[in-house]
Order: sequence, then C-alpha cells, then structure tokens
Amino acid sequence: MLRLICAFFLSLSCALAASAQEAEAPRDRSATGGAQTLEDIMERQQGLAVDNAFRSELNGEAAAAAATTEQLGARGGASDPDLWRALRFDSADVTTQIQHPAATVLIQDTGMWWVQFREGPLTTYGFGLVLGMIGLLVLFYLIRGRIRIDGERTGRTILRFTSIERFAHWLLAGSFILLGLTGIISLLGRQFLIPALGPDGFSAIAIGAKWIHNNVSWAFMLAIVLIFFFWVVHNLPDRTDINWLLKGGGIFGGGHPPAKKFNAGQKFIFWSVIILGGSISASGLSLLFPFELPMFAATFEKLNQFGIPQLIGLGELNTDLAPHTEMQYAQLWHAIVSFVLFAIVIAHIYIGSVGMEGAYDAMGSGEVEEQWAREHHSLWVEEVKAKEAQAGNSA
Ligand code: HEM
Repeated sequence: MLRLICAFFLSLSCALAASAQEAEAPRDRSATGGAQTLEDIMERQQGLAVDNAFRSELNGEAAAAAATTEQLGARGGASDPDLWRALRFDSADVTTQIQHPAATVLIQDTGMWWVQFREGPLTTYGFGLVLGMIGLLVLFYLIRGRIRIDGERTGRTILRFTSIERFAHWLLAGSFILLGLTGIISLLGRQFLIPALGPDGFSAIAIGAKWIHNNVSWAFMLAIVLIFFFWVVHNLPDRTDINWLLKGGGIFGGGHPPAKKFNAGQKFIFWSVIILGGSISASGLSLLFPFELPMFAATFEKLNQFGIPQLIGLGELNTDLAPHTEMQYAQLWHAIVSFVLFAIVIAHIYIGSVGMEGAYDAMGSGEVEEQWAREHHSLWVEEVKAKEAQAGNSA
C-alpha cells in the first residue's frame, strides 16, 4: 500500500514539474522568424497576459545588430519591435523637413476606435435623440394641441424685438440649420450618399457641403456673440423663474404664470444656445485649423484636477494625447454637442411657430398682439407700459 501511495505522489510531482517546465519553456517562434505567432495573437485577443519580452529581444541576434555609433548593418542598431513600438506610442525620435505639429506622428492607433464610434453609436444615438424629440413634439401636439391666445384680442401691438435683434436671430437660425444639414452630409455621406449617388456625385456634394459648413460657421459665431449681448440681461435667472417652473409654465392649464421678457423655458433655450453653441464653435475652430488649436489635453488636465472624471468612475483621463487623438476628440465632441443642441432647438422651433398662436410675430414683424404679451409675459408688458407712461409724462 505504502509503495502504491509513493508511486502516486512521484508520478504526480513528475507531471507537475513537466507541465511547469512546459509553461516556462520559451515559445518556439522560429516559423515567424522570432516575431509573434498566431498563439500570441490569440492569447492577446482572449485578454490573457502575454509576456512581450520576446518583442524587444533580437532573438539571439543581438550581437549581430550594429552599434548605433558605427556604420549600421542590415538591421540597424535597433530591433524592429523596439522601433515599431516607439513609432506606435509616439516616442520615436522622428525628424521631418515638414514643419507641422503632426508631421512626426507616423502611427496613431486610436483611429479605428474613432471611426467605429463615429459610424456606430454617434450616428445611432445622435439621430435617435433628434427623432425622439420630434416624436415627443408630435405627441405633445396631439395631447395639448396648439397653445391659443385665451383672451380677447385687443387689436393693439407691442414692439417685442427690434430689426437688429431679429437680424441676429435669423442669422443664428439660418446658419445653424445650414450647418446642421451640411454637417450631416459630412458625417453620413460616405455611408449613405456614396451608395446612392456614386463616388463622383458624392464628391461634388461633399466639397460643396464642406465649403458651406466651413464658411457659414463664422456667421453662426457672430450671431451667438450678437444675441449674447442683446439678450443676456433678460436671461439672468430670478425668482419669477421658480414660480414659472413650479406651475409648469401653465402649459397644461393652471393659468399663465407671470414672466418678464423671457420665461424660464426661454432662458433655458438661450443658455443652451450660448453654452452648447459656444462649445460647438470652440471644437469647430479646432477642426477648422487642424492640429493648431488642441483643446482636449488641457481640458482633461483641468477636469482631473477638479476630480470630476474620478467622481463618475472614469478614473484619471489621459492627458498625453497625440495630435490626431486631439482631432478625433474634437470631431466627436463637435458632433455630440451639435446633436444635443439640435434636439433642444427643434422644440424651440415648434413653440416659436406652429406650437403657439401669436409667437411667430415676435420674430416676424417684431410686433406682438398685446393680449398674447399679457398672457405670456405679463411683467414685461407692465415694464413696457410703465416706460411708455414715463416717456409720455416727461414729454
Ligand atoms: C427656424 C425656425 C425658428 C423659428 C420659427 C424661431 C422662432 C422664434 C421666436 C418666435 C422667438 C421669440 C420668442 C418670444 O417672443 O418670446 C425666438 C427666440 C429665440 N430663438 Fe428662435 N426660431 C427659430 C430658429 C432658431 C434657431 C435655429 C435658434 C438657435 C440655434 C434659435 C434661437 C433663439 C433664441 C436663443 C431665442 C431667444 C430665447 C427664446 O425666445 O427662446 N431660434 N425664436
């Protein structure tokens, strides 16, 4: 019996020793000339730890490599894996005659992730958001119908926006819509227009769309600056907003909560346009002047300092970004924020046109029916009337 137990343990330890030796034995890579094998690739794809030491070795040829101080031999003074790794992680000492921030970057390996994200989730969720908003507005229209002027029309009008204010608004609206349409052509053209129009047809449209997008962007930025200066004083939050919000703007009954020139809903639209539109403009400038205005590394650094990404479980954001990575982030941010602003602005367009009787006149002729103004902006009407009375008295 004892002999049997001894034999069992002996054979077990032999088997363990053999398997340990097998695990430690260097993989035979002679078939690939010392480069990685299919097994290495498969292990890496399965997420297993792969010992990459072999990639920095010259597979026994270290002695054959020429010293960097002497005339270089066939394989130079560095092993290929070292060189490729340095190129891949942008640490190679590359010099070029071209003076350009990204000219020395020969390999940039986040490109595939960016392309896939751009053609996948960005497009799906972006359009999902915009179509979802349109669906909600249709539902809202079916439930609530058009918001009518409740009281008797007075036949008198009040000047709501001067011509210069209306010019700024339509410059903003026109440029935003053009930018949206041409932006969609840039984003989805390759996927959807090439199959429909062929490469030549798409090429002409894409060149035109890009030209319009790049140039109209200046009109959009100018309009944002104009409306900011015209309307910022009327959009500072105050106590009337709390009451307006608590009453849901009176949208589903409950009377008309008092409001000044802009109610809380409009203030939300205004600040969305200023903040999101400003952010779209900043990332747009970064795209308009490739590699010259990188913004993300600096932004990530600030966010890390405030601990914001850590707070939401993202850990420290990488601040060592290659020039191309900066461009990819700028493109994604530009498109994501544009989709969000588009969804918000669609709701605004609805309320400013079919959704509310009498609203469009404010941006059409600039003159609104006094009864409309009393219902939706009662405090503003009182202000206007008080000023008129004051002007009349002093006259
Ligand atoms: C194209 C259709 C559009 C229509 C019919 C429209 C209509 C209007 C109207 C009637 C007003 C005045 C509301 C009032 O008197 O209280 C207004 C204001 C405003 N619009 Fe538009 N708009 C359009 C597009 C846009 C776009 C594309 C933007 C921005 C990208 C925009 C931004 C604003 C802002 C910031 C205000 C002031 C805040 C507010 O009233 O919500 N509009 N718009």
